[in-house]
Amino acid sequence: MKLAQILFTQGFGTRRVCAGLVDAGLVRCKGEVVDDPQAEFETDGLVLEVEGREWPYQARALVLLHKPSGYECSQKPRHHPSVMTLLPGPLRQRGVQAIGRLDEDTTGLLLLTDDGALIHRLTSPKKHVPKVYEVGCKHAVTADQVERLLAGVVLDDDPAPVRAAACEAVGERGIRLTLTEGKYHQVKRMVAAVGNRVETLHRSAFGPLTLPDDLAPGQWRWVDPLSFG
Ligand code: URA
Repeated sequence: MKLAQILFTQGFGTRRVCAGLVDAGLVRCKGEVVDDPQAEFETDGLVLEVEGREWPYQARALVLLHKPSGYECSQKPRHHPSVMTLLPGPLRQRGVQAIGRLDEDTTGLLLLTDDGALIHRLTSPKKHVPKVYEVGCKHAVTADQVERLLAGVVLDDDPAPVRAAACEAVGERGIRLTLTEGKYHQVKRMVAAVGNRVETLHRSAFGPLTLPDDLAPGQWRWVDPLSFG
């Protein structure tokens, strides 16, 4: 594929802007400036450097963000900045969207992609992708609360009970909860339904992915789409 076209597919702007980046000597490959927008490259495994930033070619973008508190997952946030503001321009330009939303005050693992089919696959209720939440509660967690979360609780929008796929008390006021659906405010509503209250909420895992220890809040990294088979 031609270099300007590659940059275009990666979200670096219009074809004209992409050709301009190349003309201006702002694109490198293997340390060498490439100043011909028409230069041909094999995209498989290609790593470019654009304006000093390393950029691996990705046919579809899939990234993992350590979501900080105080950000909304929506593209059009109402009260807080969008998580999109934490991503570089080319990813925003590609129209990445969150794969299932986290509340503004929830922290932790958030996946974003421009692959609509992947969003559908990972958020479909039929797929039962496990998500692990570390919950800090207002009151001490009782064995009865843990049992009820595992047995299933009825929420106000559906008569069918929702149950945790796994649930354990962590310390006096913590719960580690694994859910396979993604209903609105599900953790907060389930915990409220057993008589406790969520004070802090952090997602530590999504399917096969766990939040890396060395990824600080607000930082992101690429994920191999093959992680999801
Ligand atoms: N459940 C909630 O209540 N909030 C989240 O952000 C995620 C799951």
